[in-house]
Amino acid sequence: TRRVIFDTDPGQDDAIAILLALASPEEITVEAIVAVGGNVPLSLTSKNARKICELAGRPDVPVYAGCEGPMAARPLVTAEHVHGATGLNGPDLPEPTMPLQAQHGVDFIIDALRLEPPGEITLCVLGPLTNIAMAMIKAPDIKPRIREIVLMGGAYFEVGNITPTAEFNIYVDPDAAAIVLGSGVPVVMLPLDVTHRVLTTPARLAAVRAVPTKAAAAAAAMLDFSEKFDLAKYGSDGAPLHDPCVTAYLIKPDLFKGRHINVEIETSSPLTIGMTVADYWGVTKRKPNALYMRDVDAQGFYDLLTERLARLP
Ligand code: BDR
Ligand code: CA
Repeated sequence: TRRVIFDTDPGQDDAIAILLALASPEEITVEAIVAVGGNVPLSLTSKNARKICELAGRPDVPVYAGCEGPMAARPLVTAEHVHGATGLNGPDLPEPTMPLQAQHGVDFIIDALRLEPPGEITLCVLGPLTNIAMAMIKAPDIKPRIREIVLMGGAYFEVGNITPTAEFNIYVDPDAAAIVLGSGVPVVMLPLDVTHRVLTTPARLAAVRAVPTKAAAAAAAMLDFSEKFDLAKYGSDGAPLHDPCVTAYLIKPDLFKGRHINVEIETSSPLTIGMTVADYWGVTKRKPNALYMRDVDAQGFYDLLTERLARLP
């Protein structure tokens, strides 16, 4: 089993990514969850993370609050227009009773990496990369201790979803993304090129809805909510599903195909800030720094998700 720390801004798709992990203890051990400001402000993402743990019957998973907003002096861009005012609109989940940990999420990440042997901890990042970049700046010694960073972010062939050229997670904190991609730590990227193929078709939604667990019912309500927004936008047979691709990659990497390439982040152009400039065809001699995924077995993904949601309460 891989020991992972989730860094996240829940978010319905973040929530499903975490549920999928908590349902898969053979492959994934969730050491902790660190919240970041993103889809909605930190006060909500750190609360939503706890709602998800309790939904999965796992109030023992420690939840930390990290950074409120981007590392440089930029305003936090949020996405209530996609996720609703709470960030987790859709299911009716009770207020969490488990506590939020007192330590700052960035300090927790640093301590956790220093305490464990090198190569032990994988960071799964489902939101803006602020906490990870801040940890790397504060404690550069943690970089060689990270086994891998698996993140949802970026877009190249599928272009952007928050601006014409930028994907949301990278756009919110491009400086942080640039630091992470320049860190030398092995990075796996699940960009929109993949997540826009993992469509919530009516048959796939029905399969999730048919699973007789509380967690699956909540997941179905989350998927329904996201679908309403995205269907109108993309006019496809279902809405994209983003963050659970990170978890699915950890469980079944063979579902995905991609290439080791160089990816640089645009951090200053007013027109294209947050763009992930992915050298997919190797036209520069820049060193590969990421395994950039471009294809996915979407039905295999939904079969996995449906099967695993049946294992939760
Ligand atoms: C990403 O942005 C967020 O709104 C989603 O949770 C996902 O992490 C997709 O661009
Ligand atoms: Ca997210």
